[in-house]
Amino acid sequence: MRNTAVVTGAGRGIGRAVAERLARTGALVHALDLDVTELRDSEGAFEVSLGSVVPKQCDCADTAQVKRALNEIDGPVHVLVNCAGIIGQPTTVPETGDEEWDQVLTANLSTVFRVSRAVIPRMTEGGAIVHIASILGLTGARSYAAYAASKAAIVSLTRSMARDHAPAIRVNCVCPGAIDTDMFQAYVQRAADPAAERLRIESEIPLGRLGRPEDVAGAVAFLASEEAAWITGAILVVDGGDTA
Ligand SMILES: NC(=O)c1ccc[n+]([C@@H]2O[C@H](COP(=O)([O-])OP(=O)(O)OC[C@H]3O[C@@H](n4cnc5c(N)ncnc54)[C@H](O)[C@@H]3O)[C@@H](O)[C@H]2O)c1
Repeated sequence: MRNTAVVTGAGRGIGRAVAERLARTGALVHALDLDVTELRDSEGAFEVSLGSVVPKQCDCADTAQVKRALNEIDGPVHVLVNCAGIIGQPTTVPETGDEEWDQVLTANLSTVFRVSRAVIPRMTEGGAIVHIASILGLTGARSYAAYAASKAAIVSLTRSMARDHAPAIRVNCVCPGAIDTDMFQAYVQRAADPAAERLRIESEIPLGRLGRPEDVAGAVAFLASEEAAWITGAILVVDGGDTA
């Protein structure tokens, strides 16, 4: 029987690459995102896959919407990948308004909490959960305090959930470095010289290039698979050696 997976933030970028990767291993993937237009428009992309990707419009921070999305899924869920997130504005703590703080923590952390809470009771045959945090959750980040704090909390949540839900459910976390997606583009566009900033970041990565969404998807697919049967509570850095 094929696995059923739920991937949040799967409308584009890393989440989409994860959804496609899991579908290639034969899974039926429910792809949740605020905006699934791109995913719907490229249905042909999934013809080669063994499994399939089902786009579902859903605000993963909204308990009622998450519940509704889960109710539309038949049978048990085997894999959950929490990827939805936003980077927020470049501000230090005194510069961060309440609304901005709440927005970043809600999009990055509450989504993980709310979707995990809804999915865990559906993992009746056991399962694997992978959260997407960030290396900034480990190192901190200049001018992105709220973002870094939200990602550090995901690291902590991973360890608590790994203990709470073993042995039936494994819970792991991937911390990507700089991955070339819309979020990364938005980040470099804020620099005085975006092209120079992109080159600077790239030049500091030991493996010599920015990450691709597929680099993260490979790590997620491993952690979600039987190959990782004895791995839980792990924090896997996927950053081309940036924090080595
Ligand atoms: N790109 C990077 O360099 C990088 C590095 C480290 C970690 N990450 C993390 O990886 C994840 C994916 O990032 P990305 O670069 O693909 O970003 P992205 O902006 O390209 O994609 C993020 C997706 O999440 C969706 N989303 C946001 N809030 C949502 C919500 N409440 N409900 C449902 N969907 C929601 C967006 O609509 C979007 O499709 C994020 O959690 C991000 O913090 C990215």
